[in-house]
Amino acid sequence: MSVNPASVTNPPAQFPENFVFGGATAAYQVEGETRTHGKGKVAWDDFLEAQGRFSPDPASDFYNQYPVDLELCEEFGINGIRLSIAWSRIFPNGIGEINPEGVQFYHDLFAECHKHHVEPFVTLHHFDTPLPLFEKGDFLNRETIDAFVDFATFCFKEYADQVTYWFTFNEIWADASNTYIEGTFPGGVKAHLAEAFQCEHNMMLAHAKAVLAFHNGGFKGKIGVIQSLEFKYPLNENDPADIKAANNEHVLQNQFLLDATFRGDYAPDTLECANRLAAVSGGTIEILDEDLEIMREAALYNDYLGVNNYQCRFLKAYDGENDLHHNGTGEKGTGRWRVKGIGEHVNKPGVPTTDWDWIIYPEGLFDLLVYIKQRYPNYKQIFITENGMGYKDPYKDGFVDDQPRIDYIEQHLRWLLKAMEVGVNVGGYFLWSLQDQFSWTNGYNKRYGFFYVDFETQKRTPKASAYWYKHVAQTRRLD
Ligand code: NOJ
Repeated sequence: MSVNPASVTNPPAQFPENFVFGGATAAYQVEGETRTHGKGKVAWDDFLEAQGRFSPDPASDFYNQYPVDLELCEEFGINGIRLSIAWSRIFPNGIGEINPEGVQFYHDLFAECHKHHVEPFVTLHHFDTPLPLFEKGDFLNRETIDAFVDFATFCFKEYADQVTYWFTFNEIWADASNTYIEGTFPGGVKAHLAEAFQCEHNMMLAHAKAVLAFHNGGFKGKIGVIQSLEFKYPLNENDPADIKAANNEHVLQNQFLLDATFRGDYAPDTLECANRLAAVSGGTIEILDEDLEIMREAALYNDYLGVNNYQCRFLKAYDGENDLHHNGTGEKGTGRWRVKGIGEHVNKPGVPTTDWDWIIYPEGLFDLLVYIKQRYPNYKQIFITENGMGYKDPYKDGFVDDQPRIDYIEQHLRWLLKAMEVGVNVGGYFLWSLQDQFSWTNGYNKRYGFFYVDFETQKRTPKASAYWYKHVAQTRRLD
């Protein structure tokens, strides 16, 4: 990095006037009512039922409890909420017939947000492609791209008076890697790097088409995409093989998607690496000239980038057989990521981790933001759309002391302020998650929220972190 963090050891503790202090949710992880009120199926419904480990119903019962959650937001100084519209609540089959009850639900939800002065930041796709489209190949099938653009355009029109801030997709990398590399999402394909890249490209093309539909439709408001980004460090900074491993994964997760976002094209170094990695799994990536034309035009109209960031990665060279072990819970010591020709995830001695083995390294957020600013000077603004810590919160006598989460957030906010000090334009921070919710591969014991949810009674209890955040949001400073 060309910026030395040591040179900015004393950033201002003050956040700007219009900074958004938010909390994040996603439809499938909070709403419940997954098979009622006219909602169509998504692949997760059958996938989870077949596993029999846990159910997405009622999750945090947000479908019914949202007035309670929004009242809590207002009380705790949270002035932004990230939420997603479940595509199959609007179009139960992905295209065609509309479900009026679903359409009305989101009108009511947005009205409640505004009643409590909580700005909705709305994502159109959060891992929940409607089942009929998923079964036809999800985003590997170009038909899904057009169906998504129709759904997005419907929402832009329908909610034009209530929603200002839009995001097309949540975490294209997570979707692609969990489906086609780790195999932990429905579809369950392992180590198919070509399909992972193809999925990334096709989703970015869908993003670009939706951005153009938004722009050409003359809708008011702003639009962007949320990427899940992690800074990659070689385990041994002097070992060329480790450096290459870090770069491989950096291209796969970060650079391929950011080039597509901000250049609308892939730089030669990005393409060289992507093609080489795709060939490892015996495939190629189809990128048409007409795709790039669309993407280049759309790149002009991204109003912001959503950055989801929890950790960084330390990479060690690895050329053995693919070894993607995941025991379904991801808890300490139970997962492995070793991909032939890319590298292996390891940790550095002394760097702390969460109960789920996620590396706690807040400097990584700083390095990531500075990298974006330097490589993509045409970016306009960044929102940290997710950051947070999964923790087995101890509920005791009506109180939850989640001091490790407070420490985690505080450290990340401090490094965020350092990045702002060196000129990165950040408009807000959303904790993942607003309230405890259902976690895709961990169910209900991995809690992330400001508000503890008793999943039996649906009672909410503000945790210590909620009180701490309230103070930060109200004073706009870190003491
Ligand atoms: C990223 C995803 O957007 C969200 O759905 C997930 O639950 C959190 N990270 C935590 O893993």
